[in-house]
Amino acid sequence: MSVATHGRSKAYLLGVNKTELERLRFQHRVWKQNTDSFLDKLKIAKGWKCLDVGAGPGFVAMDLRQRVGPSGEVTALEPSELYLEWLAGECKRRGWKNISRVQGRAETSLLPKNYYNLVFVRWVMSFVPDPVKFLQPLIDSLKKGGTIAIMDYWYEGLSLYPQGGAFDRAAEVVRKYYRSGGGDPYVTGKIPELFRSYSLKLIHFTPTQIAGGPDSEIIEWAHRFFVPHLPLMAENGNCSKEEAEAMVQDWLEHRKRPNTIFFSPIVVHVAGKRHG
Ligand SMILES: C[S@@+](CC[C@H](N)C(=O)[O-])C[C@H]1O[C@@H](n2cnc3c(N)ncnc32)[C@H](O)[C@@H]1O
Repeated sequence: MSVATHGRSKAYLLGVNKTELERLRFQHRVWKQNTDSFLDKLKIAKGWKCLDVGAGPGFVAMDLRQRVGPSGEVTALEPSELYLEWLAGECKRRGWKNISRVQGRAETSLLPKNYYNLVFVRWVMSFVPDPVKFLQPLIDSLKKGGTIAIMDYWYEGLSLYPQGGAFDRAAEVVRKYYRSGGGDPYVTGKIPELFRSYSLKLIHFTPTQIAGGPDSEIIEWAHRFFVPHLPLMAENGNCSKEEAEAMVQDWLEHRKRPNTIFFSPIVVHVAGKRHG
């Protein structure tokens, strides 16, 4: 972690700090209905063993714990100590003993083999430089008949109505930003091919998107990302400082207008099943 990069580690673009933890908490709330609709489709049963990869502070891990109950088991795999400590406190507060925490990255993790009924990965894969190295240990950790479920971007669709302002270029700049950190903003497009190479059966591939007006939670979600991150994108050389300022200005102007509509980027729900 370095002060010069605003607490962002070189390896992980969005950084780890208390402000980001609060942003993730809010993000979880805004996308909860969307995430729950995916979890519902996975037909998670009491007693299942689940792995939440890149769990952050464990918001999905805790939702999984609700679904698997006291007889199930959830593991939160996450590189950040800060997030895992926060999760430990939350589990203690709830009296939950069956969420275990593993500190580390998916690529180098020593997970049990043939163990999990479900491996869940939300908003992690678009940051990783090598999806094959990332997925291999996760797929090895799946039980026969187990499911790996991924929620991530196909970074299209991000837009503001009315169009015609500086923010129209935002999606392109964000894509550059992700790539500058070694990630892939279109990673979900690769997943069916990767699943095929691991002989997993593709059971879900559903693009989703949320839209809302100037007072909606979804526009506030985007606000908490774009307003701090557009200047960082300029610092990273993904656009000029003037362009970042113009995008923020256009954004703030849109938020004042009652007819504004914000469209989120496309988030794809992808799931594959290991043959039983
Ligand atoms: C945008 S956050 C998403 C957190 C959580 N999945 C959620 O949806 O609320 C991405 C998380 O992935 C973690 N992460 C980044 N690279 C990782 C890797 N290679 N293996 C495991 N976790 C990783 C980060 O530390 C961060 O907590």
